[in-house]
Amino acid sequence: MGLRPRGPGRPESAAPSPEPAAGLPARRAAAAVLFAVLEQLRPLDDALAELGDGKLAGRDRAFARRLVATALRRLGEIDAVLASHLAQPLERAHPRARSALRLGVAQIVHLGTPAHAAVSATVEMMTGHGTDRLKGLVNAVLRRVADGGHQPREGLAAARKNTPQWLWTTWERAYGADAAAAIAAAHLADPPLDLTVPADAEGWADRIGGLVQPTGSIRVVDAGPVAELPGYAEGAWWVQDVAATLPVRLLGDVAGQSVLDLCAAPGGKSAQLAAAGARVTAVDLSPRRSRLLAENLRRVGLPAEVITADAVSWRPPEPADAVLVDAPCSATGTIRRHPDILHLRRREEIERLLPLQDQLLAAAVDMVRPGGRIVFATCSLQPEEGMARIAALIAGGAPVVLDPLRLDEVPGLPEAVTADGTLRTLPSFWADAGGMDGFFAARLRRLSTG
Ligand SMILES: C[S@@+](CC[C@H](N)C(=O)[O-])C[C@H]1O[C@@H](n2cnc3c(N)ncnc32)[C@H](O)[C@@H]1O
Repeated sequence: MGLRPRGPGRPESAAPSPEPAAGLPARRAAAAVLFAVLEQLRPLDDALAELGDGKLAGRDRAFARRLVATALRRLGEIDAVLASHLAQPLERAHPRARSALRLGVAQIVHLGTPAHAAVSATVEMMTGHGTDRLKGLVNAVLRRVADGGHQPREGLAAARKNTPQWLWTTWERAYGADAAAAIAAAHLADPPLDLTVPADAEGWADRIGGLVQPTGSIRVVDAGPVAELPGYAEGAWWVQDVAATLPVRLLGDVAGQSVLDLCAAPGGKSAQLAAAGARVTAVDLSPRRSRLLAENLRRVGLPAEVITADAVSWRPPEPADAVLVDAPCSATGTIRRHPDILHLRRREEIERLLPLQDQLLAAAVDMVRPGGRIVFATCSLQPEEGMARIAALIAGGAPVVLDPLRLDEVPGLPEAVTADGTLRTLPSFWADAGGMDGFFAARLRRLSTG
């Protein structure tokens, strides 16, 4: 490992407490998932599906998810704590030990796990992958952490320490210093669960124990496993962040209209459109995600024609009344739910996606009838994935005009309507109620010329 604890202290060989560690399967799964994310750069959801969820029962699964999410949200702080107890940089550690140590600190400092339980369980995890010989070191370092009296950082200090500088800078430039701090602070907490309910929202909110929001979503705090909530089996609702429901709203009344959903999977917005009475054609490039989309629509009993195709080149038999482009993007607006994005996303990836977003927008212009509406949306906080794409489209001479939003189109969120008449939500909106995803959306109208 090439690592030693800093300074004198208990000897490395100090035996860990012999008591059997409770929750060991969950901790092992969490370590495997954290390793997959931070060392192999795999998306959190994929790693959880493969290494965590299937192998764990309900309570263990929730614990494993919480451990990993905490480690990812608080990674800056956790690494600083470890650095203060290591004689050499953490980067030199055995990667499996690095993951285990990070989870150990997450438990001791952030989750209030009794130190002896966190230490002994972490030490017990050090088997296989050439890690057995590291038990003593892990034990020594975590005991020092436990003795160190570290407290979680709060407020601005926590927000700054746990946010990569490049992301912070982009948000500060786009929204100002206070907003950047509020965005980063919103990423530190577990988000609530939001549900979209086509009918009887009040009734379902009562049964589920949630609250109906001004936009119509039901918000549930500490919801537990989604599939165990009332209404799941009947397909009475689907999971969708409150901000993610807004782009479809901007299309107005779609009843009886033909609507193309060009980047449709996994289908939250297609379901909204179908529930509002639109004739939906849901297009997605990925066969796997298209299957998921079809399954999701089946579960909630809503109809749509599902097409697996590249929306840049695919064309409908006739122009549509409206087109939604929920474009692939950096997804930095969804860090609350996907804290891996903080550590996996690279600036260059954002640059690479911009041409695709432009092509999808141009395709949408091609597919909508004169007078028809286009909504372009991204779950991104990056301004180049927002208004900059609309400005580029219009500057390029596309036959469209921006159709500004009215304040009453987004109830309870006047702060989300920009001076341009576009939609911009931030994770810090409704902060006291658990925040929301960061979304950009703009509505365009197709002119008859062009
Ligand atoms: C942000 S997600 C869409 C989320 C979806 N609208 C929802 O509300 O559930 C972007 C989707 O675009 C799809 N995609 C990426 N490039 C595409 C292309 N060229 N044509 C069609 N779909 C594409 C991806 O497979 C992905 O499912």
